Amino acid sequence: MNISKQPTTAVPLKFQHIFSGLRCIVGKSGIKKFESAFADFIGTRHAIAAGNGTTAFYASLLAMKEARPGRDEVIIPAYTVPVLSLAINMAGLKTKLCDIQRDTFNTESDSMISAMTDKTLTVVPVHMFGFPCALEKILSTCKERDIFVIEDACQAPGAKLNGKRVGSIGDAGFFSLCKGKNITTFHGGVLTTDNDMLAVKIRSISSRRKAAGAELAACSNACCRSLSLSKGFEKLKLNAAKS
Ligand SMILES: Cc1ncc(COP(=O)(O)O)c(C=O)c1O
Repeated sequence: MNISKQPTTAVPLKFQHIFSGLRCIVGKSGIKKFESAFADFIGTRHAIAAGNGTTAFYASLLAMKEARPGRDEVIIPAYTVPVLSLAINMAGLKTKLCDIQRDTFNTESDSMISAMTDKTLTVVPVHMFGFPCALEKILSTCKERDIFVIEDACQAPGAKLNGKRVGSIGDAGFFSLCKGKNITTFHGGVLTTDNDMLAVKIRSISSRRKAAGAELAACSNACCRSLSLSKGFEKLKLNAAKS
């Protein structure tokens, strides 16, 4: 492995990286181009930029709530970032916790499955520290019970499970592009999905909230501006070349 060719987490890029990233961006179309490059990298039809990972998650919860009214429980592992619970509360939903595996710190499938009820809207397996979480049992149970699966891939962009990149396996996935993450735009997030209905709803929720000067800049992706995007482009290229 040639470390000098792979800027690591939290290490600033060199000027030449920023400059070469800038070449990818022309005016306002930069975000669209970044979304399309990110969707290609993860392997989904849609990638939607957001202000950070939490707001990408929040927007997807609102879209799922609209799609399945009457369901209000969201299951997350007990060990993850606390902001997931804040987003769940803000979306008017309830957090339910499940266990994690002692050896990987990833979500424990059986515990997540036994926490599911007829009120469960969505479950959020988290891919901690870049290690993909086992999803097979969770996916098949959720399919039977009509429950959404949102992968928290904030710490694992580019990681693969059975040949598929995380963030492309469940109904949706979300990523953090904040400082210190593997792919960063300094501040930012992305929601990925193959589900056209969810993508339309999430885009509409994002633009409605932006127009209303909403509570979360999030949905607005306002932070993803040209210089920061150039860094994101360059990191995407480096990650794609590595894997
Ligand atoms: C596992 C996990 N989920 C969610 C988030 C939230 O992402 P953001 O800080 O971009 O809102 C993070 C950020 O550290 C994270 O590590």
